[in-house]
Amino acid sequence: MLGGMNHYLKPYYGQFTLTGDLGLDVTAVLTHHHLPKVAEHVARVAQEARQLASRFGADPDQAETAAWLHDISAVIPNPARVDLCAAFNIPVLPGEAAFPMILHQKLSTVVAQEVFGVTETAVLSAIGCHTTLKAGASLLDKIVFVADKIQWDQPGEPPYWGELVTAVARSIDDACRVYLNHLWQQRDTLRFVHPWFVAAREELA
Ligand SMILES: [Fe+2]
Ligand SMILES: [Fe+2]
Repeated sequence: MLGGMNHYLKPYYGQFTLTGDLGLDVTAVLTHHHLPKVAEHVARVAQEARQLASRFGADPDQAETAAWLHDISAVIPNPARVDLCAAFNIPVLPGEAAFPMILHQKLSTVVAQEVFGVTETAVLSAIGCHTTLKAGASLLDKIVFVADKIQWDQPGEPPYWGELVTAVARSIDDACRVYLNHLWQQRDTLRFVHPWFVAAREELA
């Protein structure tokens, strides 16, 4: 894996010898790049996603794999993200180019494939829409999306948290709706309203 790593990814991931224990390897990468809070976040999301998958009848291993890797491209600096997408033929929307933070969901699928050898399309799909969701989302997509929002990456409790955990006790679609509606109410203050998010919200309404 390391010898054949794409040269665009080597500066960020080339210095690691993977052990094959995904949790350990992801933690090592994020810690090395001084992102201990992201490492702690993805560990919590992995546990949450596994639990949700068991409860809702998705594959717990796929959910955990997607969750460990969903923010793995956080180590790639914003100014490099558009060029990196171009290098891997990933379409970039104008709003994504202006606000490259949002590109981390697409780039994490690249890293999952190229660096960690993930081939399962269901896992890659869940990683690739974990921030925005998308129309036609699978159960696994929804589980990773919701797990990321329950175990959010900021200090304290998010404003939507109580409503979200109440909703997820009912159904995964209800939980998606709670977060999508929360985001929709804030749309005037968002720097970029992603069309995948708008389409997901319309579909689930
Ligand atoms: Fe993320
Ligand atoms: Fe996350």
